[in-house]
Amino acid sequence: LGMAAAPPAKAADAEPKGAPDRYAPASFPDGFVWGTATSAYQIEGAVDEDGRGRSIWDTFSHTPGRIEDHSNGDRANEHYHRYKEDVRLIKDLGVKAYRFSIAWPRVFPDGSGAPNPKGLDFYNRLVDELLANGIEPYATLYHWDLPQALQDRLGGWQSSDTSKAFGDYAGYVAERLSDRVRNFFTVNEAGRFVNFGYGWNIDAPGLSLPPPQLNQVRHHVALAHGLAVQAIRAKARAGTKVGPAENIAACLPAINTPENIRAAEMATRELNAGFLGVILEGKYTDGFLEYAGAAAPKFTADELKIISSPNDFIGLNIYAPQFYIVASDKKPGWAVLPFPASFPHMNSEWLRIGPETIYWVPRLAAKIWNIDTIYISENGTSSEDKLTADAKVYDLDRIMYLRNYLTQLQRATAEGVPVRGYFLWSLMDNFEWIFGYNKRFGLYRVDFETQARVPKLSVAFYRDVVARNAIGV
Ligand code: NOJ
Repeated sequence: LGMAAAPPAKAADAEPKGAPDRYAPASFPDGFVWGTATSAYQIEGAVDEDGRGRSIWDTFSHTPGRIEDHSNGDRANEHYHRYKEDVRLIKDLGVKAYRFSIAWPRVFPDGSGAPNPKGLDFYNRLVDELLANGIEPYATLYHWDLPQALQDRLGGWQSSDTSKAFGDYAGYVAERLSDRVRNFFTVNEAGRFVNFGYGWNIDAPGLSLPPPQLNQVRHHVALAHGLAVQAIRAKARAGTKVGPAENIAACLPAINTPENIRAAEMATRELNAGFLGVILEGKYTDGFLEYAGAAAPKFTADELKIISSPNDFIGLNIYAPQFYIVASDKKPGWAVLPFPASFPHMNSEWLRIGPETIYWVPRLAAKIWNIDTIYISENGTSSEDKLTADAKVYDLDRIMYLRNYLTQLQRATAEGVPVRGYFLWSLMDNFEWIFGYNKRFGLYRVDFETQARVPKLSVAFYRDVVARNAIGV
């Protein structure tokens, strides 16, 4: 590394004497949960082992042309076999919480029917290893790896029978793990996989359903969430906590005047009416139904009751500002501003840089739906992450991103926004869906040939934040 040579200091100058360092660090609340996150298909590999069934992502990633680097999750990070080493990496961060997902097709290879005890055993081992290392497991039940059998039999989420199968699977898992897993996320990023997988032919299963069917799919996913909440209440040990992990449509006031803040609040409610809204309000908003018109989902009052079963927390995945909102005289009272072409982003194009997203979104959500416990269930960034000659990764751009977002998150907690924890995405580089291994989101760099894990500089950054429960010094 080339360093500019500093002129030699005279001995008397070596220790600058100024005012004492009396700045108070920006602390997070006591008991704030620091964690990191991954998901099953993105890291496990071992797709044919111990009776695992196929998922829609196995099929999809093996379909030519679907994945940018022609890769798949067959090996991924080999986490299925290296989980002990990976738990050690989590421990080295100093975090006390880890969010992972359970692969439904490991537990029910056919989606429903006969369980595969060997599949669940892996999660028993993982959970025990986490607890032995003082790390609290937070398990996600659905992170996009739908059993292929359900796609084949029922059209996947096109059928409410898939919602029922999900409820049964959730109850089965909760009954067996809740003596040690005290927190379950139901569905990860419904908003994403419904649109990208069933509407826009981008993610698995690669369908382009028209609006009526697409809205029905979303409704079935909301129903699945509700059925899972109920199954967990029925089968899990008392006190088990449950909630969704949603990529809430992130609406921010373009400028912070009261009218624009109010407009962003209205936009947040309307643009999330199809999933978070119905879960938290027990109804689709008038605006949503009006906009959907003939394409509105079909539902019963009973379903709305199930869907709106009370949650213990709401998980929000927050990455980028999506909509900058201004107040408008026209109906519905708010408008979305276009992004200027020069708006900055990280090395994924969708990853626009807007640290205040992690301030406004939880603040507005907490107000709209009167939420008292929010987890940031994901936040992080991909970055170029080249190994230097000394075999290190100086990911200064990731550190810049995290420092800015965490500063805004601290601000939110200091002002009383009820965010109780933060899970950094991701523990290590992994299979980034349609981008394959081209996008690296990890704190640890992974060499996918040798499976070597190398801590990036952001590991030291995050470890310091976690250790001091504060950002800034
Ligand atoms: C959200 C998804 O839940 C996760 O699987 C993905 O890797 C990250 N965003 C980054 O794109």
